[in-house]
Amino acid sequence: MTKGIILAGGKGTRLYPMTKVVSKQLLPLYDKPMIYYPISVLLLAGIKEILIISTPEDLDNYKKLLGSGEKIGVKFEYIIQEQPRGLADAFILGKDFIGDDNVCLILGDNIFYGSNLSEMLNKAVNNEGATIFACNVKKPQAFGVIEIDKDGKPVSIEEKPENPKSNLAIPGLYFFDNSVVEIAKNVKPSLRGEVEITSVIQDYLNNNKLKVVMMGRGIAWLDTGTPENMLKAAEFIEAVQSRQGYYISCIEEIAWRKKMINDEQLRRIGEELKMTEYGKYILSLLEEIK
Ligand code: TTP
Repeated sequence: MTKGIILAGGKGTRLYPMTKVVSKQLLPLYDKPMIYYPISVLLLAGIKEILIISTPEDLDNYKKLLGSGEKIGVKFEYIIQEQPRGLADAFILGKDFIGDDNVCLILGDNIFYGSNLSEMLNKAVNNEGATIFACNVKKPQAFGVIEIDKDGKPVSIEEKPENPKSNLAIPGLYFFDNSVVEIAKNVKPSLRGEVEITSVIQDYLNNNKLKVVMMGRGIAWLDTGTPENMLKAAEFIEAVQSRQGYYISCIEEIAWRKKMINDEQLRRIGEELKMTEYGKYILSLLEEIK
């Protein structure tokens, strides 16, 4: 089985003053809290047990927002990260939660949307070793960068390199087998004092257990770390939703389509929110011709 972890801590300094007293992943992205987007990715991957990691100040608000998860047929667990020690800390803090299972980590501020996303996720869930993704970007310096050979095999990985060896950034979505727990435990903090996810990935690369999947232009990967990126992401979501009539990352809809909840459960959620377009959308799903 594969479990999911969402990292929803961090300081969010690039969004100050917005994030001085509110966790970044609770901020709205158009019509829903930011954390709905990574939750939807995990649901699409068929993951039903999800650990949410956030700061001592913010964790309770996530609990208030999402509860046990029973309403949408999932199980949410929560754990505090005292300090933003780095992305690989997720596997140290999440050791007991992960148990003997595989794990998918997604960053709380990463948004994915696209036509063959579900298929891509379902393949990654079943891969052995580690699976990461690669996206072509204009400025790879801001990301973990992966270099691949002509057969698509990974050659090197670097965290925020000054002189990147490729334009392929690694988005904040990673699938690992259970050995990640042991690997993360042994990662030494980097110069910036963080336990880096790139160090974990490097270990899989050294052992020939890393698979890199290209995220082509059919998939939008948006990161919402700055005000400009947040606005652009919100505009994208609004444009798609109003044009197509389908919502992006409506977690209740995904749970229902995946038969994790039935019509009656969906109706109840829709009724509670029926004063909003979001609630009306949920109720309208029940009128769909099946
Ligand atoms: P970052 O964008 O690297 O950091 P941040 O969110 O604190 O923002 P800023 O750079 O503006 O200060 O983090 C990426 C995501 O991972 C984000 O959703 C926060 C989360 N995160 C944690 O939960 N714990 C951590 O230790 C780190 C480094 C990040």
